[in-house]
Amino acid sequence: MADKKAQLIIEGAAPVELPILTGSVGPEVIDVRGLTSTGRFTFDPGFMSTASCESKITYIDGDKGILLHRGYPIEQLAEKSDYLETCYLLLNGELPNAEEKATFVSTVKNHTMVHEQLKTFFNGFRRDAHPMAVMCGVVGALSAFYHDSLDIKNPQHREISAIRLIAKMPTLAAMVYKYSMGQPMIYPRNDLSYAENFLHMMFNTPCEIKPISPVLAKAMDRIFVLHADHEQNASTSTVRLAGSSGANPFACIAAGIAALWGPAHGGANEAVLSMLDEIGDVSNIDKFIAKAKDKDDPFKLMGFGHRVYKNFDPRANVMKQTCDEVLAELGIQDPQLELAMKLDEIARNDPYFKERNLYPNVDFYSGIILKAIGIPTSMFTVIFALARTVGWISHWKEMLSSPYKIGRPRQLYTGYDQRDYPPLESRN
Ligand code: SDX
Repeated sequence: MADKKAQLIIEGAAPVELPILTGSVGPEVIDVRGLTSTGRFTFDPGFMSTASCESKITYIDGDKGILLHRGYPIEQLAEKSDYLETCYLLLNGELPNAEEKATFVSTVKNHTMVHEQLKTFFNGFRRDAHPMAVMCGVVGALSAFYHDSLDIKNPQHREISAIRLIAKMPTLAAMVYKYSMGQPMIYPRNDLSYAENFLHMMFNTPCEIKPISPVLAKAMDRIFVLHADHEQNASTSTVRLAGSSGANPFACIAAGIAALWGPAHGGANEAVLSMLDEIGDVSNIDKFIAKAKDKDDPFKLMGFGHRVYKNFDPRANVMKQTCDEVLAELGIQDPQLELAMKLDEIARNDPYFKERNLYPNVDFYSGIILKAIGIPTSMFTVIFALARTVGWISHWKEMLSSPYKIGRPRQLYTGYDQRDYPPLESRN
């Protein structure tokens, strides 16, 4: 909705009027699409001040530490909802009634198996390959199984693709783990909940089927909810960009997995545990805080800071509370949690971090819980990718459900102007 205008005054040129658009809540945006008439582009490396699209899925207020999924606060969803219900909400815009929820859960359960031939893809990987490398490969390979039965312009095809991805990611993630362990892959079971089924496929073997701890299943489901979606972050923007070319949704999700892998993004949860290992003891915290502040040192405090949250990350608060609950219920005294809490306390009171609004983000405490559940560090980002799949595919679906254009940014070119080709003998 454009009820205000911005005026751009360019020396020697007529002023340019640009509409200011207002959303239902949050910052206004200046619609710069009219700039092309001036032959100029906006310049915004890293998209620090760019809104790439209109969306109704997730709203973040970084100053107030607010995260809403279709209007519902993440704190309420984490406490009262569950992951599959949150998936329904993100995909469809409303919470399901009892019948809709039962149908959705049943539909997902009936798509958890993967094509038996997919197993052969794993054999090409070394057993010690990073799980995210394998995940990129096998999720991308799904596109080979569904490409012909997929018309992305067909809403029903888009819906079944979303269901297939949400249903199959836990199965693939567990297969990735089992392959790395040299253990047989475990088939999904339809009598278990989504989180129970994942833990069953991860930790049971053909020799012994142990019941899944309800404490661990609840913690796992809570972690899935907290990672489900987060507006236009790097990996979601990657999925939208890939999808804007009309690419197969399974290939788009594989692109999202690749983008999430980076330590500045979803790879941070694994990097936090490595950092805590490196710090080792509370007595070393000051040394590492100094390294994090030293501009000549590339070291950053992993799990701290965020592009949008300039106050607390509401997910980190819920994660910390879950951490306390799970460790208490399991009777675990984890020295890494003590170290993390001390690091959190010292950093929050350090002027460098306070001036830059650097607070713990979603990745700071999640690794402690995943470790308590028994997930190896190398699988942490795979868990993030599993949970974020619903966010990625919801944004993909939202983009394809209304008119869109292929994403094609321009640039500020600072290379050579045109010059002629010199013959080889003339080059010194
Ligand atoms: C996720 O976007 C999303 O929504 C992502 C995510 C999601 O759910 O999808 O929330 C998930 O990716 C969370 C972030 C996980 N990454 C980390 O924990 C890695 C450590 N954090 C940093 O790399 C950094 O904070 C970022 C990448 C998260 C944000 O980087 P920005 O917004 O580009 O900010 P910046 O790097 O420009 O930092 C501003 C200042 C700089 O100092 P000055 O140049 O102003 O002196 O703060 C400093 C930075 O050097 N800084 C840090 C720091 N993070 C920023 N200094 C030390 N340790 C840090 N962690």
